[in-house]
Amino acid sequence: MVFSRVVSDVDEIDGNFRGVGGVNITKMDSSEKDPLKIQTMFTTIAHRYDFLNMVLSLGIDKCWRRFAINQLPKSDNARYLDVATGTGDVALEIVKRIPGSKVNGVDFSEGMLDVGNEKVSNAGLSDRISLDFGDATALPFGDNTFDGSIIAFGIRNVQDYKKGVSEMGRVVKRGGRVVILEFTTIQHPLIKPLYRFYISKVIPFIGEVVSGKRGAYKYLPESMLAFPSPDELKKTMEGTGLADVKYYKLTLGIAAVHVGTVK
Ligand SMILES: C[S@@+](CC[C@H](N)C(=O)[O-])C[C@H]1O[C@@H](n2cnc3c(N)ncnc32)[C@H](O)[C@@H]1O
Repeated sequence: MVFSRVVSDVDEIDGNFRGVGGVNITKMDSSEKDPLKIQTMFTTIAHRYDFLNMVLSLGIDKCWRRFAINQLPKSDNARYLDVATGTGDVALEIVKRIPGSKVNGVDFSEGMLDVGNEKVSNAGLSDRISLDFGDATALPFGDNTFDGSIIAFGIRNVQDYKKGVSEMGRVVKRGGRVVILEFTTIQHPLIKPLYRFYISKVIPFIGEVVSGKRGAYKYLPESMLAFPSPDELKKTMEGTGLADVKYYKLTLGIAAVHVGTVK
């Protein structure tokens, strides 16, 4: 396994990120998304991840995931890949919404996968969902395996995100789709300052209180603001050979869903 070593203290992560004061959010470069640090951070917060998601997004994240899943092509006995599956919410929602479907989920955080596998088992869905260790930039599947691949709030964490997008297309059959749900930077002039305050001050504070881990949720605003614009991501998807790429902005542009078709 490429990323099997896990450092144990999330404060180590905090100390290494530039601009972690929460106020002066600086542009991150990809070297700051060290896979080992990202992997460790998610393993450290895994037990609180679902709860924090619900609190910090006021539950809207579930609607965004549903919107993204609706972009996947439907067919009998369809097979999908959920990249950076985390605690498995996308995988669980897919099998709920698409009868007969099966989902493989991959993630490189064992802690997140443990929580996800427990949820799958509790839901009695182990025959339809399989969550396993895997790196988004070297997916452990052959070419043309799936009817669609999806990633929700994962791509901005991937150091070589272009490679991640390219891998998502590689494993999908011709005519299938690649779907990417990710935060974007809100552009509305009146809401932008409020939104920046929320993500740079409120999210790190609540994240620290609930997870008990200093620094874990300071990374979130930095990575959100540093991720390429929807137009840039669209170009990247086209650059990997995906066709008919389009995107939908959700909830005042806080998030966007990009969809591309495999030629
Ligand atoms: C914000 S969570 C999203 C989890 C889930 N998709 C959701 O909708 O809640 C991001 C996930 O991406 C995973 N991740 C980041 N980089 C990865 C990589 N290169 N390969 C596999 N997983 C990765 C992390 O371990 C984490 O579980």
